[in-house]
Amino acid sequence: MSSDPSGRHIRIFDTTLRDGEQSPGASMNLAEKLEVAQALADLGVDIIEAGFPIASPGDFEAVKQISQTIRGVTVCGLARCNDKDIDRAWEALKHAPQSRIHVFLATSAIHREFKLRMTPEEIIQRAVAGVQRAAQYCDDVEFSPEDACRTEHDFLCQVVEAAIDAGATTVNIPDTVGYATPSEVFDRIRMLRERVPNIDKAVISTHCHDDLGMAVANSLAAVQAGAGQIECTINGIGERAGNAALEEVVMAMRTRSDFFDVNTRIDTRRLLPTSQLVSTTTGIAVQRNKAIVGRNAFAHESGIHQDGMLKERSTYEIMSPEDVGFTKTDLVLGKHSGRAALADRARELGFQLTGEQLQGVFAEFKKLADRKKEIYDGDIVALIGREISDAVEPQWTLSDFEVTSGRNRKPSVTVTLSNGEQEFTESADDGDGPIDAVFWAVERITKIETVCKDYRVRSATLGRDAQGEVRLEVEYKGRLYRGVGVSTDTVESTILAILNAVNRIVAESDSRADSVAETES
Ligand code: KIV
Ligand code: ZN
Repeated sequence: MSSDPSGRHIRIFDTTLRDGEQSPGASMNLAEKLEVAQALADLGVDIIEAGFPIASPGDFEAVKQISQTIRGVTVCGLARCNDKDIDRAWEALKHAPQSRIHVFLATSAIHREFKLRMTPEEIIQRAVAGVQRAAQYCDDVEFSPEDACRTEHDFLCQVVEAAIDAGATTVNIPDTVGYATPSEVFDRIRMLRERVPNIDKAVISTHCHDDLGMAVANSLAAVQAGAGQIECTINGIGERAGNAALEEVVMAMRTRSDFFDVNTRIDTRRLLPTSQLVSTTTGIAVQRNKAIVGRNAFAHESGIHQDGMLKERSTYEIMSPEDVGFTKTDLVLGKHSGRAALADRARELGFQLTGEQLQGVFAEFKKLADRKKEIYDGDIVALIGREISDAVEPQWTLSDFEVTSGRNRKPSVTVTLSNGEQEFTESADDGDGPIDAVFWAVERITKIETVCKDYRVRSATLGRDAQGEVRLEVEYKGRLYRGVGVSTDTVESTILAILNAVNRIVAESDSRADSVAETES
């Protein structure tokens, strides 16, 4: 429990796999989604919004498999207010012991006039029809009047009342464009509670976007006004500037339980591991000074603060780092550590590795231990990140490379890659640096021409012998693909990251070809 058990229970509705996945470049494959879903269930969220089944075959499959395998949590799928969407959502959700259909329809004047071209009466009819259809399948139905925070009060009250009458058990009040302020959100929820006659038949929910940096404050204001559910994402990822960050709303309610008098089911010690898993999986880094889970969230730099902390922690610390999953020391493993110790540490860091994944990570761990005496948590997270992103069977692997570069000479690179039993070697000396040359050499071998859109390198841990983690994004045929590579040699990290992206491209092309074949047969 995350706070005083006597308080009101606030449901945590996690939408990392739906709204979070709408973050540019954050798309996850099926194995990654299943892994994140399990971590969310272990974290203790009440509802996982697993995807938008009609949106793509990949989304459908993810919602279906999460419904079939993840237990102890309600699995939710998103649908517009039309029969096709709702039927498809149910098709994916029907295997879950506890499922929810989430239907949405825009209600603000701007959306009605310019996007939907529908009258207020038509909106109400469509919303009612959508909720009724969803309620035929499932008795847990959520309705969201999209852009609710810019919808006229009278009309919002009418829509919400009609949706509840039609069978909605949760009414979500989204701040779709991140425009509202905390006091406005508070007033709007209060207004609904006072004016909608059947409001006590449904749970009021909040779903705030962070365009003006107010998503967390707005969600908490909604709770103060009586909302019983917060929709949020790990690390606050989501459409545009993102959604309310789960770890922040949860820790605010817990740390200030004297003020909010509410509780959640979240096991707060799993916040950091879950944050790391989502960051590793989506490739979206957590800023250092991010509240709760940032690397600096509990680092005290000023001498005055350090002095105060040594005398009494509460002088400058309102939460303990252990409560959100930081461990006291992160110097963990070395050359002689075994597989079980590695599996244990990975579990503590939030990763439930399959036997096959553990095998892969352990092999890389042993190689690293030969190069580097002390292996830190950051190293392990980086190795796991690489293994997870290799979730698809890699078609291209690195056999060897050689690079020369110097101040006044052209860089030159020779790369040897394997594909099954065969090896291919290419050289390049036409780049403007060794990294560029590596891109050219890989491209010549794989024949996959990509455009590099983003390239970042960071050290996985402190120290000169740290591993360099390369994260990059490439464009291929109009779509973005991520790649991650890690090694103590940055050129090697780069080749591994490029290959990781290339393997994703190949796997996706294969699965598209399969699904075309399936629909045609
Ligand atoms: O931001 C939004 O309005 C949404 C809805 C689908 C709930 O994501
Ligand atoms: Zn949203």
